[in-house]
Parts: sequence; structure tokens; C-alpha cells
Amino acid sequence: MDDPSRSTTTATGSLWLDALPADGYPQLTSDLDVDVAVLGGGITGLTTALLLKQQGARVAVLEARRCGGGVTGSTTAKVTALQSTVYSKIRGKHGEDAAATYAQASAAAVRRVADLVAQHGIDCELNRRPAFTYAATSKELPSVQREAEAARSAGLPVELTTSIDLPYPVAGAVRLDDQLEFHPVRYATGLAAAVHGDGSSVFEHTRVVGVSHGSPSRVRTEGGATVRAAHVVVATHYPLLDRGLFFARLEPTRSYCVAARVAGHVPAGMSISAGSPTRSIRSYGELLIVGGESHSVGASDATPERYARLEQFAREHWSVREVTHRWSAQDPSSYDKLPVIGRYGPPWPRLYVASGFMKWGLTSGTFAAMIINDQIGGRENPWAETFRPNRFEPKSLPKLARLNAKVAADMVGDRLSGAEASSVAEVPPGEARVVGSRRDKTGVFRDDAGGVHAVSLRCTHLGCLLRFNSAERSWDCPCHGSRFDVDGEVLEGPAVKPLPRREV
Ligand SMILES: Cc1cc2nc3c(=O)[nH]c(=O)nc-3n(C[C@H](O)[C@H](O)[C@H](O)COP(=O)(O)OP(=O)(O)OC[C@H]3O[C@@H](n4cnc5c(N)ncnc54)[C@H](O)[C@@H]3O)c2cc1C
Ligand code: FES
Repeated sequence: MDDPSRSTTTATGSLWLDALPADGYPQLTSDLDVDVAVLGGGITGLTTALLLKQQGARVAVLEARRCGGGVTGSTTAKVTALQSTVYSKIRGKHGEDAAATYAQASAAAVRRVADLVAQHGIDCELNRRPAFTYAATSKELPSVQREAEAARSAGLPVELTTSIDLPYPVAGAVRLDDQLEFHPVRYATGLAAAVHGDGSSVFEHTRVVGVSHGSPSRVRTEGGATVRAAHVVVATHYPLLDRGLFFARLEPTRSYCVAARVAGHVPAGMSISAGSPTRSIRSYGELLIVGGESHSVGASDATPERYARLEQFAREHWSVREVTHRWSAQDPSSYDKLPVIGRYGPPWPRLYVASGFMKWGLTSGTFAAMIINDQIGGRENPWAETFRPNRFEPKSLPKLARLNAKVAADMVGDRLSGAEASSVAEVPPGEARVVGSRRDKTGVFRDDAGGVHAVSLRCTHLGCLLRFNSAERSWDCPCHGSRFDVDGEVLEGPAVKPLPRREV
């Protein structure tokens, strides 16, 4: 049985990452010439690389850490065109056509994932499952009814139902059949294996630190090797390069997941609540997975209580024997709530980006790969215009100004960056404190064995002040979502340089 005293402890790591293969791909150590350099080995980069290779291109995937070890390895792993209440939101903001495009692209992505699994014999426990967006109360029912109507007019064969495979009654639900669940790390591992070989390569532990656009473009890596490529695809999740105000347009939010062994029935369907608090549910074998508890990256309440609330929800509705995993991850949303996919813009015709997936990137990262594959191949893509990265409109200026004001405040340090202490001696084990002057802040973490880890708190991306995330024991940036471990190593970009360590 689970030890209840563990219920508020920090993360243990994603369930899926247990399956990262021990043997990885080599680090890039010498210069290389290819047709396309793909930066990032998550679902977006690997799918893009594979589709390009299938079209005859020589591709190099450059991954800073491990393929599938980014957000792709920390999801709830539902591959579905029904995504909470996305169609009513897109229709409300962008109209019927944009909602229909999103539906077509998402449905095509679900089919493409199943096709790639079949073509390459990827062993990723792929199963067809119905997806549900449900109203937990009668108050939430109108939003579910609106979603059913918006999804149907966008072209998806959804139905409204009250019958759902959950141990508590719901007021109503939208149902879409034939969606997919899979094991995301096994899927990414299978994609990487299909990319590697026959003139194309996958490199791990190869962090990209800069790109010079040209003919060819030059991609510089941390180890010193350069890749020359006719085209460069930035699939680093939060874009590594800012060529069009991306940093102002994309806001990362973090969410939490727990996996638990439960007695009795686990749900076969994949569900998400339409209202608040969000609860996203699926099973994996005999394990129940519950996700939710979103907040902006760098929020002061990134605490272990987030896990406790998900565990409490699981215990309320299922007979939980043991909580096996707790993990969290983040995904950016664009200011206008559509993904950002395609060429950076006219001055950079051979530089492509894919981001802003709003926590549905297993589907939208896949259709991003389809769009970019067409663009590099010189083919028209019917969805590309809707997701164009440079779709900047004057009417979005107030929202952008608000985002920029938040970033500016975080840069000058007007916000509190964490609990302060006047000396290192005051930092308790397992906790972090901010020590030092307003201009020169040092983040001090004391590990459980009493060791002190001290780093500069200025983010190495654009200089915002970092906050401690006690759920993950990391220093997180509220501006664009970079994260660093307690010794300053980069966990997530867009930062590429570690934090300077401090002697205290
Ligand atoms: C809690 C949670 C649950 C989710 N659940 C779902 C779900 O059920 N269904 C769904 O569709 N989506 C879900 N998502 C969203 C989805 O997981 C992401 O949108 C998707 O995985 C993004 O894939 P990616 O390839 O763009 O990013 P990643 O998987 O993060 O890949 C990017 C890669 O780039 C690498 N990288 C970064 N910087 C550099 C650099 N400088 N040089 C080289 N490499 C670099 C990183 O190491 C990383 O491996 C969820 C997200 C969260 C946070
Ligand atoms: S300043 Fe941009 S991520 Fe920190």
C-alpha cells in the first residue's frame, strides 16, 4: 500500500521516461553537411526528420539531451483530435474556417501517427480509444454542448453522451471515437531509429547554441562542431531563436501528473474535464494517470501540494493502492491560441519553427511536421496559412504589450523571486532561499544531505529573475520558461547557457 506520508513529496519523474533506452545516439563531434538540420528530438523534430527522410532528404537531428526525453516524455500521451474545448475557442477567436483547418490537421495527425507506427513497426503500445471532454457539473454542461457543436461543424464525427467510463457521474460529455493512446517514449525511440541511417543521423547530448541563416545555414553546437544545412527546423519546444517576437508571443504553462496503481477497473477511454480544475485522465495497463493543476511557469505556488491535489482526486474516486510516479512539464501557448508553425518569415526563407501546442502537441507537433515537410519539399499545404508564424496583427498589440510588461517586470526584479534569507546558514535542508542584494541575487539550495548549491538568479536567456520550483527542485524563469537545476545546468530552453555558480 502507498505510504500516505509520501503524498506531498516532490517529483519522482515521468512514468514514460522509465523506458528511455540505456544506449543512446552519439554526440556530434565533427562538422557535417546535410540537406536539413532538425533541432530537437521530441515528437515534432523526429516526425519532421522522418517525413523529410522519406522524401529523400539527408537529415541530422541535433538533440541537447535524449530523444523523447523532453516534454514528449512527460505527457499524458493522448493522441486525439478532440482536445478539451479547443474548437469552441478557435471558432470564437478565429472563425469557422480556422476551426475546420485545426480539425482536419488534427485528424490527419492522428492517422499519421497510426500509419508511422504500422510502417516502421514501432512497438509503442498503441491502442484505439474514445476521447471525451466532460462536464463535471450541470454548470459546465453548456460549454460541453458548445464544444460538441463547434467540433461537429469543424467536421469531426462527435456525439453528445452521458455514458462515460468514469467512476463518478458527469452532466454530459462530447465523445470522439478511434483516437489513440500510446507510450510516447517508445514512439519517439521508434521514430529516432527510423531516422538514423542511410545518410541521415540522430545526435544526442548535442546542444545547439546558435544558427546563422544563409546558403547554407550554419548550426553551431555547444561542443564546437558545426552543421551546414540548406534548411533548418527549430523544433526545440520553446523556440531557440527569436526571429519575430516569439518570446513575447508564447507563454509556457506547467502541469502536473500522477500515476497510481488502483484496485479494480481503470478507465479505457481518455477523458478531460471542460471546467476548472482541469482533470485529464487515462490509464496505462493497470495504472491510472491523472493530470491537471496548470499554472504559469515561475509561479510562486509551484509546490508539491499540486501533486497532493491530484492524488486526493484519484483517492476520492478510485481505490488507490500505490502512487508510482509524479511528474510535471510545461508547454507554451501563443497569444492567439493557435500553434506557430512554418517559415520564420520572409527574411529567413529556409528557417522553420514549430511551437505553441497548448498541451496538445502529440497531435499538433505531428501536423507541424507534415506542414514543414511540404514547405521544404516545395508543395502547397492547405493548413499552413492558419498557423503561419508571422501572422502578427495590429489588433493583438494590447495582449502583446501586456506580455511584454510582465517580462519587463521580471527582468528588473520588481517581483519577489522567492523566499529570502539573510545568510546561507538560514537555508533549511530540501529548501531554497534567495540571498544577496536586489541587483545581484544568489539562489541557494540546501540538499537533503546538507550540501549547498548556489547559483546566479539571472536567467542566461534574456536576464529575467528566476524563481524556485519546490515541486521539481529547479530554478524556473517566468519570462519564457527556461529551467535550470540547482547547480545551474539548463533543463529546458530557450536558454542555452548554464547559470554561473556562486561561492557562498
Ligand atoms: C503535463 C502535460 C501533459 C500533456 N499531455 C498531452 C497529451 O495527452 N496529448 C498531447 O497531444 N499533448 C500533450 N501535451 C503536450 C505535448 O506533450 C507537447 O506539446 C509535445 O510533446 C511537444 O513536443 P516537442 O517535440 O515540440 O517538444 P519536446 O518533446 O520538448 O522536444 C524538444 C526537444 O528539443 C530539445 N532541445 C531544447 N533546446 C535545444 C537546443 N538548444 N539544442 C538541441 N536540442 C534542444 C529538448 O531537449 C527536447 O528533447 C502535454 C503537455 C504537458 C506539459
Ligand atoms: S529570460 Fe527568457 S527564458 Fe529566462
